[in-house]
Amino acid sequence: MKRRLKVFAGRSNQSLAKDICNSLSIDLGRMSYTKFSNCNIKVRIEESVREDDVFVVQSGYPDTNEALVELLIIIDALKYASASRITAVMPYYPYVRSDKKDEPRISITSRLVADLLETAGADRILTMDLHAPQIGGYSRIPLDQLLIQPTLCNYIEEKGLENYIIAAPDVGSAKRAEGFARRLDVPMVILYKRRYRDDEKAKITRIIGEVKGKDCFIVDDEVSTGGTMIEACHVLKDAGAKNLYAGLTHGVLTNDACKRIEQSPLSEFITTNTIEQPDFSKFKKLKVLNVANLFSEAIAAIHMGTSVSKLFS
Ligand code: R5P
Repeated sequence: MKRRLKVFAGRSNQSLAKDICNSLSIDLGRMSYTKFSNCNIKVRIEESVREDDVFVVQSGYPDTNEALVELLIIIDALKYASASRITAVMPYYPYVRSDKKDEPRISITSRLVADLLETAGADRILTMDLHAPQIGGYSRIPLDQLLIQPTLCNYIEEKGLENYIIAAPDVGSAKRAEGFARRLDVPMVILYKRRYRDDEKAKITRIIGEVKGKDCFIVDDEVSTGGTMIEACHVLKDAGAKNLYAGLTHGVLTNDACKRIEQSPLSEFITTNTIEQPDFSKFKKLKVLNVANLFSEAIAAIHMGTSVSKLFS
């Protein structure tokens, strides 16, 4: 018996889920939610999923904790409704930056998320651009990680820049930046960043590589407060860089990040809709790439049992 493909979505990124369904030419699965006065959530799957191959789209932002619990409840409901296989599709993985024990007595929360998904009944995880590749190994169920690199590299090439380099805003982003630089066959530089406290103020103290007279394309996995990106821009400008561009997968964009980016030396700031974005029309420098096709192709490949990594080659 051929299992039917179904896509359901939590409330964190309904617009991406609908775009994914449009691209797959299917309707979004029907589900109802109730949030009680005691803050408990109830989910009811409003159609049969017996023996179906089900994908649940839920991003880990804006309300990370509620999105995570809602996803676990949806998976549990689908499991008890006899879905044959359940894939948690998390375009932005919750707690992705809590990926290591770099201080005493802290939780590796991104590993805990993987444990919770497995306990709830997920059979697979599909996500995009993890903060660090080791997170892929935290779960004992298969995890596929999509990358923005091919899409963003095409975008960069279409700009037709002449004399440009790729910049990693911190040492943690160096490997990612190297992937871009290799693919585009251009040089790269690495900035040395320190965060002194959890107050998220980043300070860049060194540039490794030559930037004078060059356009710079800064690549990162996410921008949250914008602190890292804006600090990187000022340091690169002071070192003689010409035009500055930024490309990153997850536009968390907390506080007044959009406004600060708009006022920064950046010529363009490119992100994606892994996180549901508001209307950016008043911010001229912000551009959002839609990743729905990438996710729908990966979902189709997982459903058909064909290669997901071929999507990156
Ligand atoms: C950190 O290691 C990440 O790669 C990003 O650089 C960081 O999440 C950016 O955060 P913010 O925009 O708050 O500086």
